Amino acid sequence: MSGLVLLGAQWGDEGKGKVTDYLGEMADVVVRYQGGNNAGHTVVVGEEEFKLRLIPSGILNPKAICVIGNGVVVDPNVLLKEIKYLQEKGIDTSGLRISERAHVIMPYHIAIDTYDEEAKGEKKIGTTKNGIGPCYSDKYNRIGIRIADLIDKEVFAERLKATLEVKNNLLVKFYEKEPMDFQEIFENYSEMAEKIKKYVTDTSYLVDEALKAGKKVLFEGAQGTLLDIDHGTYPYVTSSNPIASYAAVGVGVGVQNINSVLGIAKAYTTRVGEGPFPTELFDEDGEKMRNVGHEFGTVTGRARRCGWIDTVMLRYAVRLSGITGLALMKLDVMDSLPKVKICTHYECNGEKVETFPCSLKKLAECKPVYVELDGWQCDTSNVRSYEELPENARKFIETIEKYTAVPIKLVAVGPKRDQTIIRTELFK
Ligand code: GDP
Ligand code: IMO
Ligand code: MG
Repeated sequence: MSGLVLLGAQWGDEGKGKVTDYLGEMADVVVRYQGGNNAGHTVVVGEEEFKLRLIPSGILNPKAICVIGNGVVVDPNVLLKEIKYLQEKGIDTSGLRISERAHVIMPYHIAIDTYDEEAKGEKKIGTTKNGIGPCYSDKYNRIGIRIADLIDKEVFAERLKATLEVKNNLLVKFYEKEPMDFQEIFENYSEMAEKIKKYVTDTSYLVDEALKAGKKVLFEGAQGTLLDIDHGTYPYVTSSNPIASYAAVGVGVGVQNINSVLGIAKAYTTRVGEGPFPTELFDEDGEKMRNVGHEFGTVTGRARRCGWIDTVMLRYAVRLSGITGLALMKLDVMDSLPKVKICTHYECNGEKVETFPCSLKKLAECKPVYVELDGWQCDTSNVRSYEELPENARKFIETIEKYTAVPIKLVAVGPKRDQTIIRTELFK
């Protein structure tokens, strides 16, 4: 039995795709446990770049079984496009499995996500407009459609009829838009269901059997800790739980299967969308991080907000997920900075704040306090061992370890597979 959870320790886009791909090489099963196609994971293999939104990044390992767990929300349109995209790039997708219990993103979810954001105006969340929130809302409101319902025409017709009546009332009377046509959706989604059917199975059973057989299972989180619906910067969050304990729920296996938890963090911090961000930079250093780090969204192309690494946030992520090791990504992006900073705590109205506040009002008033270190000002992208890193870069890494009390087990110095420094074995 060997279960490793890999999750974002910040606001998403930490480089989870790259690490999943790296560890996916050693895994027998790679499984996504939450989120949907709001995720955008870029993986670079050799000279080729893969952009994945829904399918686990482990799909690039032809030997791995890749599972979309019950905790994920699935847009069949996106799923089929992604399968086609991978096949066209020569990737074998026969290892893909989809939970029959995963919920389906329907056209009205996407429409409502868009209309809700428009209605919120300046108070918008900045969602990806992929219908994620409305789909999870319906799941919890018990009016969702699961993959198992979708692939059974009779059940699908019955559930769609009932739900569409409610949604059309909402679309017409509240949003003042056109109603959606039952027959059109039914035919279109039934056609897609036929193509998806062969991948659908009881994935909880499958993953449990793999764990019992001593196989290596990698649980791949999407989004990040601070976007968690319970523990993130609510309401500027996503509608699922990226934290590690949700891996058990979102796959349907016992919590004792999670042996280690790898938190993925950038050497700085980024955020897409709205909401407070204590260490955000509006100066040249922030511009440099954005331009050198290509900090523009995979899904929406939006410029990501950039700032210094924040150990208040990382300590919070470590606590919430029981993180046993960190992967520090994109160290190379900081290569040219003369000074680098690490936020150790906040100050709020004269008070020292060491734990991440719940109140957004308080968070907005928090001023970051930094330790400033000399930069290393040389190219690290060709470094392949920890000892070879410049002394100032090692100092930076070890200072983060000091303030998070967690070992940094992996350091990434570029987007490619081999631009990875392993300090400790990650997947036993
Ligand atoms: P994810 O959502 O957590 O998988 O992260 P994204 O894929 O959205 O964003 C991370 C971006 O940084 C991708 O374009 C990666 O190819 C790239 N990347 C990952 N690790 C490194 C690294 O160490 N250095 C550099 N320069 N780029 C990296
Ligand atoms: P990966 O897996 C960064 C953000 C959106 C928005 C908020 C809610 O690539 O790290 P949603 O569409 O989920 O309802 O939007 O969450 N968001 C992400 N930000 N990386 C992601 O995924 C994200 N997925 C959602 O920008 O602020
Ligand atoms: Mg991303």
